[in-house]
Amino acid sequence: MKKISVIVCAALCVLGMSAQTMNREQVAREMNTLARTPQMGWNSWNLFKENISEDLIKGVIDAFVTSGLKDAGYTYVNLDDCWHGDRDADGMVQVNAKKFPSGMKALSDYAHSKGLKFGIYTCAGTMTCAHYTGSLGHEYQDALQYARWGIDYIKEDWCNTEDVNPIGAYRTMHDAILASGRPMLLSLCEWGSNKPWKWAKGIGHSWRTTGDIENNFESVLKILDLQDGLREYAGPGHWNDPDMLEVGNGMSVNEDRAHFSLWCMLNAPLLLGNDVRNMSRETAGILLNKEVIALNQDPLGVQALKVKGMPGMEYWLKPLAGGDWALCVLNRTTAPKTDVMDWQKLNVNDELSKCATDFDTKEYTLKNLWSGKMEGKAKKLKKITVPGHDVLLYRLVVKE
Ligand code: GLA
Repeated sequence: MKKISVIVCAALCVLGMSAQTMNREQVAREMNTLARTPQMGWNSWNLFKENISEDLIKGVIDAFVTSGLKDAGYTYVNLDDCWHGDRDADGMVQVNAKKFPSGMKALSDYAHSKGLKFGIYTCAGTMTCAHYTGSLGHEYQDALQYARWGIDYIKEDWCNTEDVNPIGAYRTMHDAILASGRPMLLSLCEWGSNKPWKWAKGIGHSWRTTGDIENNFESVLKILDLQDGLREYAGPGHWNDPDMLEVGNGMSVNEDRAHFSLWCMLNAPLLLGNDVRNMSRETAGILLNKEVIALNQDPLGVQALKVKGMPGMEYWLKPLAGGDWALCVLNRTTAPKTDVMDWQKLNVNDELSKCATDFDTKEYTLKNLWSGKMEGKAKKLKKITVPGHDVLLYRLVVKE
């Protein structure tokens, strides 16, 4: 008998069902281990909007494995809005059976069988932004349903929330997750309206800082500018979220490269928004660059800071674990720009991380992360040219 229960228990663990038996404290402990570095994955909204289906999600899961995305660290495959059916007689939310004939549990099982995780979308209001079933007043039932479905990640939006208190709403979902028996990453999507960076640490693992990104470089720059003053609020387990990526959705390769580099420098959650089943070589080359991803996933978890440059240019410096730095030079204009970098002017003493570049005393070797080439040392002056709407991205490797 004992042997049988051991076998049953082992089988349940393999199926990922052991989490359902966790008590509140265990779930809370596990929640604290999530997103120690910014979460990485994919989300259906930017490209597919309401055109989602079981076949699409399975195709994305397969592509994660075959394209190398999984090996590069992308883990979560997340459904956004428009997956919902109605609630049943008990108030439990159901899936749209036309789009997802095998149900959500089958999809999460499929993701898990490939070593991936599966995420879902809801909204703190009466209805989602696309007018599907919202979670207001049903948070405990919804978290329980997601736990039963084997969900690993919840994005919670903020439409149709008139008179709802944001802190209370998101805390309720957080508590509902604790009660559900299954740890789930909680991503707040409140667009920065109530300054979530001031109160959402400990409630969710990331919070949107702005409205929705659009598939153009002006939108990327606009969102970038709105990150000013927020770096002190982010860190392991609690990230500023400047919204999902538009890489591969139609911007130029230079723009895509700049967008991805900046999101890595900002420690943004890296949620792909393109059709990963059909990526061009250029798009794959950007999204799979492990040395660039490593800046985003650096264990120090400190966002880059901006150093003013010549008009139209910005210098972003990010301290890394072990004493290295990342340097991203952004050309905001459409024409190429040439500059002579003076390392002394770029010297930073970052109060937040207590890291200093000390270019006068420390020796750094420059690795260009997009060309892969070594470019000498960070000494005296360096002439650079940055194409329009593009970046130069370096890892400054400190000499021990
Ligand atoms: C809001 C969110 C988006 C997306 C849509 C779905 O606009 O900010 O990221 O989830 O809703 O309707």
